[in-house]
Amino acid sequence: MSSTQIWDPERYARNARFVSDLGMPVVHLLAPRPGERILDLGCGDGVLAAKLAEMGCEVVGVDASEMQVAAARKLGLDARVMAGEALQFRDEFDAVFSNAALHWMLPPEEVIAGVWHALRHGGRFVAEMGGHGNVEMIQAALVDALDRRGINGESFVPWFFPTIEDYSARLRKAGFVVSYISLFPRPTPLPGDVTSWLESFAEDFLSALPAAERPAYIEEVREALRPKLCDARGNWTADYVRLRFAAQKPRA
Ligand code: BEZ
Repeated sequence: MSSTQIWDPERYARNARFVSDLGMPVVHLLAPRPGERILDLGCGDGVLAAKLAEMGCEVVGVDASEMQVAAARKLGLDARVMAGEALQFRDEFDAVFSNAALHWMLPPEEVIAGVWHALRHGGRFVAEMGGHGNVEMIQAALVDALDRRGINGESFVPWFFPTIEDYSARLRKAGFVVSYISLFPRPTPLPGDVTSWLESFAEDFLSALPAAERPAYIEEVREALRPKLCDARGNWTADYVRLRFAAQKPRA
């Protein structure tokens, strides 16, 4: 299914600032050089794209959300509304960068093909996304609580969390040379209650229910997760797993 997620920049800044805060390792893997032309794929509100611009890069950000693109433009960025699976660029970027966004973009082979065409020969694709096992407990609780209501919860999962083998095979099939790829758990402390995470990121599951039934659903998911993700002091940690990689489009 395609996602029904709505990206509200204010809610995102309130509940999900940690996403860009934790994005610096992938910026370091990108190792941007001043003057490079870089595409930030799924730029969101543009915070990391602005960092790349501060480092002297010429940055274009794309995101499927009009509201996020408007927020990125407020930072002075060249940000455009474009879906990751329908990129419209040809041989113009030194690098394509993406943080915490590719798992929302389906089908992955169309995303990878668009990245390939966007890059110049010798260009690089450097990204981090949710990998195999990402938010496994959260996803299971969301699916199970829909199943209990007689709804096929699995059919509302909007994310793609690949293994190393799966994603490197896709990159190689498109022509990329994969120089680095790693899958690792990154338990992520949440800034507040898991409810805010669910309200921010689980709209696809919520869309399965009438508005009046959503608060009870969220509460049920939260209580299912409490023994697994909440410590004795009430601090919540999400069970994130990252897939981080660098791949090159060979020189012609
Ligand atoms: C992630 O960054 O891994 C993620 C964020 C929101 C929903 C699912 C996964």
